[in-house]
Amino acid sequence: MKFAILSRNAKLYSTRRLAEAAREQGHSVRVLDPLRCYMRIASDGFQMHYKGRAMSGYHVVIPRIGASVTRYGSAVLRQFELMDTFTPNASDAILRARDKLRSHQMLAAQGIGMPATVFGDNPDDTNDLLSMLGPPPHVIKLNEGTQGAGVMLTEKLSASRGVIEALRGLYAQFLVQEFVAEAKGADLRCFVVGGRVVAAMKRQAPKGDFRSNLHRGGRARVVKATAAEQDVAIRAARVLGLGVAGVDLIRSARGPLVLEVNASPGLEGIEDATGIDIAGEIIRYSAERHKRRAAKRNHARKS
Ligand SMILES: Nc1ncnc2c1ncn2[C@@H]1O[C@H](COP(=O)(O)OP(=O)(O)OP(=O)(O)O)[C@@H](O)[C@H]1O
Ligand SMILES: [Mg+2]
Repeated sequence: MKFAILSRNAKLYSTRRLAEAAREQGHSVRVLDPLRCYMRIASDGFQMHYKGRAMSGYHVVIPRIGASVTRYGSAVLRQFELMDTFTPNASDAILRARDKLRSHQMLAAQGIGMPATVFGDNPDDTNDLLSMLGPPPHVIKLNEGTQGAGVMLTEKLSASRGVIEALRGLYAQFLVQEFVAEAKGADLRCFVVGGRVVAAMKRQAPKGDFRSNLHRGGRARVVKATAAEQDVAIRAARVLGLGVAGVDLIRSARGPLVLEVNASPGLEGIEDATGIDIAGEIIRYSAERHKRRAAKRNHARKS
């Protein structure tokens, strides 16, 4: 099969591993920079060019679209979809997952556990907004933040108000959550591929921090997610329509709570911690799904 990996940088660990796994499984593979893909949109057909050449005939595209190129990258991915290329994560699903408010609303609507979360726009509503959440400590998160930067813990109501005021002054988007103390600075990354948790790792925050991000000095180790945790992770990926997802959970007194569903989860930390060939799982799943879809269409055409 002909695989494309949409990634800004062929040297990144996850990109390299996916390309390697595709070759190992006998596929041809090319890494394409989404920002060098350009397209013609017309009712008589779609076209895409890459660095001066026409591009077509890809069976599978694996998107590795960073947050900074979400909009353009997902338009490129949508063009692939319109040209009949299979992707484990559709452009719409990636856009859903990248929108924090939307994905929180969708997950909660399906009964998936998560920390109680509030957000609002007008400073006049801050007091009532915080009373909807309950007493501190609160966790305040920038919508644009990643890797733990922009996640703050406030122990007093006055601190919550102060931080919120400051963020509003900077025109930053944020949400406020209940602080789940029982998590004890740990979270659980469940890597979901095709409706299965193929690997899980626990990340523990360094002493004195509540954020377990590896970029903040958190430590990862392999764990077995419980049946309930696997179930929540699988359902969260399904609700957002993602074939490949990194679902972050924290363990609370009322069961696993979803913090985030990542549509382009990195492979390095988790392959390192677990020794599992996750790139291989992603390639196998995508090839299998493409094959099944092609067979179905063939069948429909004949009958
Ligand atoms: N409500 C909470 N209660 C307790 N701990 C939390 C809560 N929210 C986040 N944490 C801790 O802080 C860490 C960082 O938070 P979170 O994952 O939401 O933000 P991020 O990693 O910066 O962004 P993202 O994961 O969306 O890219 C989590 O991994 C978890 O350890
Ligand atoms: Mg996180």
